[in-house]
Amino acid sequence: MATRSCSYVFLFLFAFQSAIIKGNIALPPPQCRPEPASTLEKIEFLLNLIVYKAEIFLRSSVGLGINDISPGLVQGPVPIGATVAELGSDIRNVIEEFGLNSVGHIRAIVDCTSLNAPITRPQLNFSAQLFSGLINLVVNETLTPPFNMYANNNFLFAAADASSLLRQYLAGIVPSIVGDVERRLVAEIALNEAANFGAIRALLNARTNSTVSPYTFTVANLTILIAQRVNPIAGCGVKDEGLIVPLQLGAENRTTSNVVSADVYSLAYRRSEREILRVIYGGNATKPGGFFPSGFNGELSRRIQILGLS
Ligand SMILES: *[C@@H]1O[C@H](CO)[C@@H](O)[C@H](O)[C@H]1NC(C)=O
Ligand SMILES: *[C@@H]1O[C@H](CO)[C@@H](O)[C@H](O)[C@H]1NC(C)=O
Ligand SMILES: *[C@@H]1O[C@H](CO)[C@@H](O)[C@H](O)[C@H]1NC(C)=O
Ligand SMILES: *[C@@H]1O[C@H](CO)[C@@H](O)[C@H](O)[C@H]1NC(C)=O
Ligand SMILES: *[C@@H]1O[C@H](CO)[C@@H](O)[C@H](O)[C@H]1NC(C)=O
Ligand SMILES: *[C@@H]1O[C@H](CO)[C@@H](O)[C@H](O)[C@H]1NC(C)=O
Repeated sequence: MATRSCSYVFLFLFAFQSAIIKGNIALPPPQCRPEPASTLEKIEFLLNLIVYKAEIFLRSSVGLGINDISPGLVQGPVPIGATVAELGSDIRNVIEEFGLNSVGHIRAIVDCTSLNAPITRPQLNFSAQLFSGLINLVVNETLTPPFNMYANNNFLFAAADASSLLRQYLAGIVPSIVGDVERRLVAEIALNEAANFGAIRALLNARTNSTVSPYTFTVANLTILIAQRVNPIAGCGVKDEGLIVPLQLGAENRTTSNVVSADVYSLAYRRSEREILRVIYGGNATKPGGFFPSGFNGELSRRIQILGLS
């Protein structure tokens, strides 16, 4: 097993094992709790989101897939409906970079864990019709012309959501990852992904008052409406937020600007496996659909399905 980038020796670990815990830790309701799972199962679940992000970022920015960048890294069905998006060249470069980041993360997982290349890619659906249908649900009307995720820099909305889900899942699993190499790996992926998310949201924020052509709503409006659609589907409170928020959701209740969504302590929001699946599948964690018409790969999502944990 190649562990080139992972062969660090952790001598200091046990010095940090005791922690003073202050305040109440309220247990979330069952449908919002992380599923009991091994570290490898969590990383396997995570891979679905990383592969999704890598494929859609690379295909939409430069028309390449993961295997074009790193031959043999993934196998399995080719994503449906991918198109190179109309993007300003500054944005295209950023989306390409962040897609490449995710390829690196897959390689790191292959190098550092017992999950080997080729990683089996889930069936992915990137069709423009799927996005336009989702945006119709978000704005609660049938837009004419249909919303085109691949036109006018609109891809930034899809990019922010893909990165957001990854960041939320990573925030959820970092504390429970067992093994020094694995914990370090997941934490370092999480920090990079959080930076990706912030950069994408900053690109959206620079356009916050622009209307989303050819409609009347603004970029800020659409981020708010997307959050208002995602939160009830996930079913675990407010964890997605628009670029502009009421003061009581702003940092320290002092601002309505909200480039990086976060909780009352400005800490990253976490989402459990079932929340992630509900959002991605479109409402039911045991009923694949949306971007993953055949569902996630791996033991953890299979168990959620078998146990009927919708
Ligand atoms: C992909 O999404 C489109 C639009 O919703 C749908 O028509 C098509 O059947 C989907 N493909 C798969 C394989 O799920
Ligand atoms: C969506 O639109 C329908 C019809 O215009 C309306 O009755 C319904 O209340 C709207 N739903 C939401 C969540 O705004
Ligand atoms: C957007 O509009 C609001 C309200 O008019 C204004 O306060 C804000 O500075 C504008 N943001 C940008 C980035 O132009
Ligand atoms: C869009 O945002 C503006 C400014 O905050 C607000 O006045 C308007 O009602 C919003 N429109 C929709 C459709 O949410
Ligand atoms: C901000 O407002 C919320 C809700 O009103 C409250 O729970 C929270 O403690 C406030 N935060 C600060 C820093 O005052
Ligand atoms: C979720 O989907 C499964 C399988 O289609 C179904 O049996 C179950 O009733 C659904 N759960 C909810 C809450 O809709």
